[in-house]
Amino acid sequence: MFTTPDDCNSMIVKVSGNERPETFFARRNKQATKSRDIGDNCKFSYNVEVQYKRQQEDKTLNIIVTGGAGFIGSNFVFYMIEKHPEDRIICVDSLTYAGNLSTLESVMDNPAFRFVKLDIRDREGVEKLFVEEKPDVVVNFAAESHVDRSIENPGIFLETNIMGTAVLMDACRKYGIQRFHQVSTDEVYGDLPLDRPDLFFTEETPIHTSSPYSTSKASADLLVLAYHRTYGLPVTISRCSNNYGPYQFPEKLIPLMIANALHDQPLPVYGEGLNVRDWLYVEDHCKAIDLILRGGRVGEVYNIGGHNEMRNIDIVKLICAELGKPESLIKYVTDRKGHDQRYAIDPAKIHGELGWLPETMFKDGIKKTIHWYLDNQAWWETIRSGEYRNYYEKMYGNR
Ligand code: NAD
Ligand code: DAU
Repeated sequence: MFTTPDDCNSMIVKVSGNERPETFFARRNKQATKSRDIGDNCKFSYNVEVQYKRQQEDKTLNIIVTGGAGFIGSNFVFYMIEKHPEDRIICVDSLTYAGNLSTLESVMDNPAFRFVKLDIRDREGVEKLFVEEKPDVVVNFAAESHVDRSIENPGIFLETNIMGTAVLMDACRKYGIQRFHQVSTDEVYGDLPLDRPDLFFTEETPIHTSSPYSTSKASADLLVLAYHRTYGLPVTISRCSNNYGPYQFPEKLIPLMIANALHDQPLPVYGEGLNVRDWLYVEDHCKAIDLILRGGRVGEVYNIGGHNEMRNIDIVKLICAELGKPESLIKYVTDRKGHDQRYAIDPAKIHGELGWLPETMFKDGIKKTIHWYLDNQAWWETIRSGEYRNYYEKMYGNR
């Protein structure tokens, strides 16, 4: 019987980054059905029509989206305004170095959208907003998100990622909420060895963090689950793999390499560049969160990932090729401290329960992303000309 997530995990299927996601999942489903009975805990079949019908029947929602001026949060705002124009989005962001109001320019005048500059650690401010807006749903993206920065300065990660989450949940308890959704990360599971491609993270994989960043996210996850068990707060958690796409801050691997390559600057690859990440186009992440909000079971964790594992060095070479830049720009630099080897998500649960499938193949998504950075040079050039310069010099100057 296919009853435990470990069982799901032990089914080895060869994955190729260029295979269409539907084909991959269909092939995997076929193998699962062929090889064993599928138990209740691990359903692979679903019906897209039913899923979308249920969405249409939903009532209008007042949704607070924290961290909506950042990379994934802003993409989520755009996705929701397009997909559910009947809902109201209240974007809360304190505009740290990673938040950019110009990203939200296209929705600022939309009557279904409101931007509020607010720190999620500000208890009074958060409570005032709850009284004003009476939210039905809170989706918490707000976080310090960069591993390298957490190694330099862990304190702010603990404050925002743990304490900020607690402040939001306390307001949810006090004023009531239909759903509090915590946007978490696959990094809470630690890493997998490079020589065991048969292993994946399931929702049952023990938490085993490496960096101050992942530890702060794991702590927040535990707190969210504790608020559910102790106070009955209706929560869900998603743990997604690495995202890529438009509006990602140029400190992260893909936009950093694109921006440096365009300036013919060295491309700093940590260690030997053999670490593996499981890349997902940002819109597929947004779609998964929307499905969890509308159909996910309260108290549950859902892993999100599209089986698209790539070595860092291969991504950097691909970017060079797409931009017509020489690989001689690549510079191997001192490795990240505690560098996680491999992340790989098993998305069987969200696929089986909610019918989620990634839609953008990496070969298309990476081209779209590179071209977005080419077409939106002003957006990232502004960032790179500011405080970011000091950061870059500090992190890479003597590396
Ligand atoms: P990001 O750094 O681009 O954006 C974070 C946003 O949060 C910024 O707009 C920032 O101004 C805001 N913020 C930070 N501290 C705040 C505070 N105290 N109060 C209010 N706003 C604050 O991050 P991202 O890559 O978009 O990640 C968003 C979320 O998704 C994070 O929780 C992250 O852990 C999670 N996540 C990211 C990835 C990824 O690949 N980027 C993958 C999985 C999960
Ligand atoms: O897995 C999800 C996580 O993905 C999110 O929770 C984090 O918020 C997000 O930042 C991301 O974390 P990573 O550490 O995996 O992403 P980053 O882009 O920083 O690095 C990706 C890989 O590239 C990693 O193995 C380190 C390497 N790298 C990164 C940078 C910035 C380099 O080789 N050179 C670099 O300059």
